[in-house]
Amino acid sequence: MTAPLTRRAVLQGGAIGAAVLALGSLSTEQARAAVADQARSGVFGFGVASGDPTATEVLLWTRVTPTPQAVPGSGLGPASQVRWEVAADPAFRRVVQRGTVRIDAARDHTVKVVVPRLTPYTRYWYRFTCRGATSPVGRTQTSPDEPGRTHALRLAFVSCSNFTGGYFTAYRGLAARDDLDAVLHLGDYLYEYGNAEDRYGPAELAGTRDHQPATEMVSLPDYRLRHALYKTDPDLQAAHQQHPWITIFDDHEVTNDAYATGAENHEAQDDPDTSYTGPGEPAGVRAEGDFLARRAVAYQAYLEWMPIREPGWQPAPHRGTQFFRRFSFGDLADLSIVETRQNRSQQVPTTVGGQVNPALADPGRHLPEPEQLRWLTDGITRSRKPWHLVGNQTVLTRLFAVPRVGVLGGQVYNADQWDGYQADQATLIAAMGRGGTDPVVLTGDIHSSWANDLPPAFDVARYTAAPSSVGVEFVCPSVTSNGFKESLGNSAAAAVAATTAFQAANPWIRYLEGIGHGFAVLDVTPDRVQTDFWFIRSGGDKGLAVDPRVDPQATVGFESAWQSVRGSRRISGPVAQLGPRSDRPRGA
Ligand SMILES: [Fe+2]
Repeated sequence: MTAPLTRRAVLQGGAIGAAVLALGSLSTEQARAAVADQARSGVFGFGVASGDPTATEVLLWTRVTPTPQAVPGSGLGPASQVRWEVAADPAFRRVVQRGTVRIDAARDHTVKVVVPRLTPYTRYWYRFTCRGATSPVGRTQTSPDEPGRTHALRLAFVSCSNFTGGYFTAYRGLAARDDLDAVLHLGDYLYEYGNAEDRYGPAELAGTRDHQPATEMVSLPDYRLRHALYKTDPDLQAAHQQHPWITIFDDHEVTNDAYATGAENHEAQDDPDTSYTGPGEPAGVRAEGDFLARRAVAYQAYLEWMPIREPGWQPAPHRGTQFFRRFSFGDLADLSIVETRQNRSQQVPTTVGGQVNPALADPGRHLPEPEQLRWLTDGITRSRKPWHLVGNQTVLTRLFAVPRVGVLGGQVYNADQWDGYQADQATLIAAMGRGGTDPVVLTGDIHSSWANDLPPAFDVARYTAAPSSVGVEFVCPSVTSNGFKESLGNSAAAAVAATTAFQAANPWIRYLEGIGHGFAVLDVTPDRVQTDFWFIRSGGDKGLAVDPRVDPQATVGFESAWQSVRGSRRISGPVAQLGPRSDRPRGA
């Protein structure tokens, strides 16, 4: 995402200590050794995970280190047989399926198994064995997806989990919950930055929570090593171990503000004035090469290291990997996962020549490619279910910049979200208005917590006089990445002033909180959807006086809850915190 919540804005205000520079000069070999060291539990040191659950299938994932030299990204280590088992109980007395899969260095010794013929809405336990070692036991669950049956549906959704940004307390909070069908990760699962001038996150954690490799990830070994580092985190491992995940990447899984043919944080030729890749490097030393080649290895590592099904192939004219996909939850809801980076048109400035940039509304510019947008709008307009959930990366609703000197009337805040692609935004909003289902958009990226109406026209006077809306949007806080407070000189008062001003300029934003970090929980019934926002806290403080991200003992606590009643298409609340689920999966 872009200004003002950028790393550069943060860097300009932050002091980088000498210790960081020293760490930044770790060699690649030392970085690998650090990851290998941190994965000290041996063959299965990177944990287990499951993902993309349907009524009858779930994907299982692990990474095997068959010999000590088979460090992630090294390309070393022998091919091995890995045995997997799925059971109906955590002690594996009732094993329901088992099999063997061969893994090798070509896929960085990662394991993916799609287990078929399971029972809907049922808990399962799984484990792997290889070379005499047994993995931790993971817990997973098939979807509450049975035609004619209405089950409970409760999903956590998260985004923007920067390792150098803080401890993953939010993930620990998710791991402790027993009421989730799945965890939805909406993007920025990992970040590309290094540990020196481009470090992103609180300076207090320099030296205790550093990225490996220590410089910006660019090559295949870099991306693999970075994924491996994230999966050494005990809180992240626990969250994967306890719940199936549904994941989609945003930009930072490749590099900041990516678009179809490039990115803000990519330079084919090294330019020391505009970006940074390694400590003390003169111009020309660390050019990042061809963007599409870089993106290809980033996707390869993502597919190796994440519990996501292998994607389909999207034909011409937008040839590419099809990551967008849909999940069904009985007669209650569908969930469309969109992917808005691979084919998007390049971002344009919000203003040009003293005017609002007309290119923002150019119908020739696209966020999802036209084929994907049609798939999404068809899914919404043809749905016969009460709810259509959309897992989305960047904010959908209009966000006008706060009026002040130098800001034009009608100027939007950020051209890297749907506001930068207003023809696509209007097409999607119009489709929502035509359909009989209530759309619920779930969004990440902006490192703050929101509940928005989606008015059919982004007209402040008209909305204020007679509010109308075609759907709702909930935006989750970041797991750790800098929010309004950190981007505004670590001032909670400034964050409150900014979010208050945004709401005044955009009255369809019904809730906006810019201090807390954590996660959101969506609960769906035939009558309403509700989102609870949970924030990490240090000594009970969500971040007013302290930074809970730097406290390894931080906890999570409920903050606020908002609803949308079926048929209203609007946000209502605040309401009381969610209670227990109305029913439980089989085996729970
Ligand atoms: Fe982010």
